[in-house]
Amino acid sequence: MDRKIKILGFAGSLRKSSYNRAILRAAMELLPDDAELEIFDLEGIPPFNQDLEGSPVQRVKDFKAKVKAADAILIATPEYNYSIPGVLKNAIDTASRPYGDNSFQGKPVAVMGASVGMLGSSRAQYHLRQCFVFLDMYPVNGPEVMVPVAQDKVDKDGRLTDENTREHIAKLIDSLVGWTMKLKGQHREAKKRAA
Ligand code: FNR
Repeated sequence: MDRKIKILGFAGSLRKSSYNRAILRAAMELLPDDAELEIFDLEGIPPFNQDLEGSPVQRVKDFKAKVKAADAILIATPEYNYSIPGVLKNAIDTASRPYGDNSFQGKPVAVMGASVGMLGSSRAQYHLRQCFVFLDMYPVNGPEVMVPVAQDKVDKDGRLTDENTREHIAKLIDSLVGWTMKLKGQHREAKKRAA
């Protein structure tokens, strides 16, 4: 593949100082040379109503177009009540419809997540992975990036400062890019050697 792998990232939080938005911004700084990342803000995606799925608002059209144009998806999920936040599930449900027009179909995907608790969104991540089955997505299995006690790892300017977490995120993105190329029938190592 001669162009960079296009990753679309979104976080399941609308909060201005969101830790999940912070780890997504960190991913942007940690990309390998053969990848690019665009971040989509889920603000403005209305609550899903199946009666209206045939006439989506512009924000939904934009989101679906970005998902479809991406080679791979990166999701940063908070954990709400041991599961995925409604904002995230709503956006996924919305872009998976109408039936037969699932924007996520066949896309490779990586998950990461941050929480103020001790398990770093792990329970939410496993719920999210369950959705990938019906969405027909291809998740990267590792490394798992679960960021516990995120309030101690992001500074007041919203920058992820924890080096260990940054390393894990870099490895996850690298895995996602390698996995994406493999699914496209490309051999990344051979490409790198030839470059
Ligand atoms: C939470 N939080 C939380 N944390 C956790 O580790 N496990 C949980 O089940 C929950 N449940 C939960 C429910 C609701 C409704 C809220 C608002 C919060 C705390 C959560 O980790 C914290 O608010 C994070 O800061 C949310 O992520 P962002 O917004 O910083 O990205």
